[in-house]
Order: sequence, then C-alpha cells, then structure tokens
Amino acid sequence: MKKGTKSAALALAAVMMTAVLTACGSKADTAGSNTVTDTTVGGSQAENTDADVTPENGGTLTFGTNAEFPPFEFVVASGVIDQYDGIDIAIAKKIAEKNGMTAAIENMEFPSLLVALENGQIDAAIAGMTITDERKEEADFSIPYYTATQVMIVKEDSDIASATDMADKKICVIEGYTGEVCVKDLGYQYVAFKKGTDAIMELVNGKCDVVVIDSATAQKYVGDNEGLKIVEDASAFESEEYAIAVKKGNTELLDKINKSIEELLDDGTVADLGAMYTEAVSVE
Ligand code: ARG
Repeated sequence: MKKGTKSAALALAAVMMTAVLTACGSKADTAGSNTVTDTTVGGSQAENTDADVTPENGGTLTFGTNAEFPPFEFVVASGVIDQYDGIDIAIAKKIAEKNGMTAAIENMEFPSLLVALENGQIDAAIAGMTITDERKEEADFSIPYYTATQVMIVKEDSDIASATDMADKKICVIEGYTGEVCVKDLGYQYVAFKKGTDAIMELVNGKCDVVVIDSATAQKYVGDNEGLKIVEDASAFESEEYAIAVKKGNTELLDKINKSIEELLDDGTVADLGAMYTEAVSVE
C-alpha cells in the first residue's frame, strides 16, 4: 500500500466536496454514493467486459478521454500512458494501480465519451468532465476530484469585462463542453469548435472576440499565446466539479474508483498533480 506522493510547492487543485453547482447555475448533487463494497471476485476473465472489471485479476482498466484539454489531458511524444499525459492521465494510472490493474487510454471526441461508456468500449471516462444533471441521466459519476469554473479568454485590449458584455460579440465555444451550455443558457449566439486550440486560433486571428472555456485550460492557452487575458465572472459562471464517469449501474467499478479518488485526495496526490501540471504547462 505504498503511495507515490510527490511534494509540490503549490496546491492549486481546490477540491471541495460540499454543495455542487454546475455551470450556469443549474444545480446538481454530488454523485458520491458510499455503498458497501462488492466483493464478488473470481472467475477468469481474459477481457474486461463492461461492468465486469475485476481488479484482483489484474488486467486493463480502459479510460476514455479527449486529449485536447491541457493540463488535464493532452497528447505528447511520450507521456504517463503512451502518448497521453496530464492530471487526469496520472490519476487514471494511479487508480488502475491501486486496483491491481494497468490503465489504458482511448482518445476520442468529447461528446462520444458517454456513448463509449454505454456500449462498453471503455470502462470509465476521465476527461475533466463536469458533473451535470443531463450527464447524470446517461452515466454514473464518481466523487469529484477537481473544482473549476468557466472563464472568458479575450484579447488583452478587449472591453469585455463581464459575461453580459459578450452579448454583441462573436463568441467561440467548444462543442459539447459545459462552456457551450453556459453561453446557450445566457441566450447568446456562438460558434462551436471541435478543439480548444481551434477556438483560440480564431481568437488570436481576430475572427472571434471571446472563448468561453474551463479555467485551468484557459490559463494554459493564455500562457501559450501572446496578447490574451482571462476575464472571470462568478455571477454568470458558477463552480463545476470534475468527476470520473462509469456506465450507469456499474457500482462495483464506481466504488473502487471512489475509494481510490478518496485516497488520492486525502494524501494530497491530486493537489500535487494539479500544481505539477499547471506549472509544467504555464509560461509565467
Ligand atoms: N469541463 C467541461 C465539460 O465537462 C469541459 C471538459 C472537456 N474535456 C476534454 N477532455 N476535452 O464539458
């Protein structure tokens, strides 16, 4: 039961397990169900079929992600798991390890993740995914491991100072992200891109005025591109909580994931990873 705890200077991963408010004020309650651990183990499974992951047998725990969301998941030449790296990838690896398994990553489009869970292509989705009421109808969520909020990325000389200032501006969002939901809820027109980097290019090239996206990812983009800044508006964008999704009803796996997350939160691993990857990807 060793833990590879790393010491880090900053603890940026502010994790709050209290009341959950998802983007744009729609309320959702935390998924954390502390049910009794299912101890049905045994048999010999060569494959991990959905809802039948038996950690004690070893094997692979397949996580789906969308590796377009630094610092949580991004593609590198060689990372923590294959060419994937980031806070979530490191968490996935640790969860698998804690349960005697090896983590595998399947990279796909963000809106495909819950479908992939449903059809058994992946065991769990870890993708900086915000718990929302809509998504809770499609999948079960772990306890949260990270708290974020939507922010606006604008050019340094922009006059946008609050969400309502976006009303007559060209707004860019990422398809299927909670940022899109927020802008839609505000009643504004927008253009949706498949990748955060595409939306940022549009902003840098002056073809859009503002990109609405999650805070830590926004910081990464602002660090990587000259002339951009972040504008926050807590009255328009409320806090969101990231959690791991599993197929509905897969309580066996969910319990294991919850237990692992709890340990990773308690021993400071998640905070350390947050600090480590935020420093690693930031310019200043
Ligand atoms: N937190 C936002 C959401 O749940 C954005 C997540 C995007 N994640 C990704 N891996 N591309 O919609």
